Amino acid sequence: VSRLAARVERMRPSRLRELVAASTSGPVLSLGGGLPPPEALPTEALAEAADRVLARPDRLALQYPPTEGDPGLIEAIARDLRTRLGLDAPADRLVVTTGSQQAFDLIAKVTLDPGDAVVVECPTYVGALRALAVYQPAFVNVPVDAGGMDTARLEHLLSGGLRPKLCYVVPNFSNPSGATMTAERRRHLADLAMRYGFLVVEDDPYGQLRFAGADIAPVAAHAPEVAYVGSFSKVVAPGLRVGYVLAPDALRRPVVLAKQAADLASSSFNQGLVAELLAREGWLDGHVEGLRRLYCERADALAGAVARRLPGRLWFDPPEGGMFAWGSLGDGVPAADLAVAAAARGVAVVPGEEFVAGGEPVPAVRLSFSMLGPADIDRAVERIALAFEDLNQGPG
Ligand SMILES: Cc1ncc(COP(=O)(O)O)c(C=O)c1O
Repeated sequence: VSRLAARVERMRPSRLRELVAASTSGPVLSLGGGLPPPEALPTEALAEAADRVLARPDRLALQYPPTEGDPGLIEAIARDLRTRLGLDAPADRLVVTTGSQQAFDLIAKVTLDPGDAVVVECPTYVGALRALAVYQPAFVNVPVDAGGMDTARLEHLLSGGLRPKLCYVVPNFSNPSGATMTAERRRHLADLAMRYGFLVVEDDPYGQLRFAGADIAPVAAHAPEVAYVGSFSKVVAPGLRVGYVLAPDALRRPVVLAKQAADLASSSFNQGLVAELLAREGWLDGHVEGLRRLYCERADALAGAVARRLPGRLWFDPPEGGMFAWGSLGDGVPAADLAVAAAARGVAVVPGEEFVAGGEPVPAVRLSFSMLGPADIDRAVERIALAFEDLNQGPG
């Protein structure tokens, strides 16, 4: 008899990741993980913020904060969401979370019963899939193209009787697809959510990292039943674990109660650091501008190297921001085999099936351009070309 709960069955490690890691030999050029490179982390600004936070006589940054979050940080986030995104963002609809990852967990915990239908993009962010899967939903995949989730397909499923509890989307420069959902589809999704009564979880950690094209209003600007989830992981530092959710009224209180049970509150010190940075006039805008330039240069380097070295073998729609490109593969090259062959050549890429609820193979690999400078990106792509040749020469 197992001593473990049935839901543990749904907590699976990624076998593919293990396989890819095992085939890696020597130093790796990583197009694998999507995270800020060390040189993009604002160490000096954080050290100054830490000094100021610790110098406060009330020492509040070392006490338990309210479960909802540090009031100063909440005010600053509410202001940002109003001015930058035009959202109706009263402070009392915000909850600070331990990374956006905790927001996914808490939202799923208070909304999902086993077997509830959850609509996700195919492909979608694997961290959110893991968080949702614990609550044993029935995932429904809706395909993504260059314009984001195919909402016409979703409408077709809904008119055929699908009744999801929630729909999880990453509209800006998605991880892994790099795709940006069009303005029309955002409005359409909001409209479907109102018509069919499901919650949209709009995950937007990359929205500020746009380096091409024009900003598009979030889904949350068009409907009240949207939980808008944000994060400071990609614009300040992932190690702080500071994220937040702007929740519909009916969701906010259960989320706060669930958070109280989970961890009482997120780190007051780290919330204080972020609040300090946001209070510095123009600091975040300047920092984000630097990140945009960095990622734009790297995205261009990747597009150039792929066009030169892998014509007809791998291609992608250029992302307008963020950290990811979705490299489509021609016929007859399984993405998992390519990832293993690339690892043997010292390059990390992630095969597409990692990002599919259900894990079915898809003919694509995720390429992250955040970690390497242009010269290393070119070297990495050169090695991927060798990996393609290794595959063609293999037996059978
Ligand atoms: C789409 C997406 N959402 C959320 C996260 C996680 O963010 P956090 O560090 O705030 O938990 C990531 C991190 O890679 C991501 O790509």
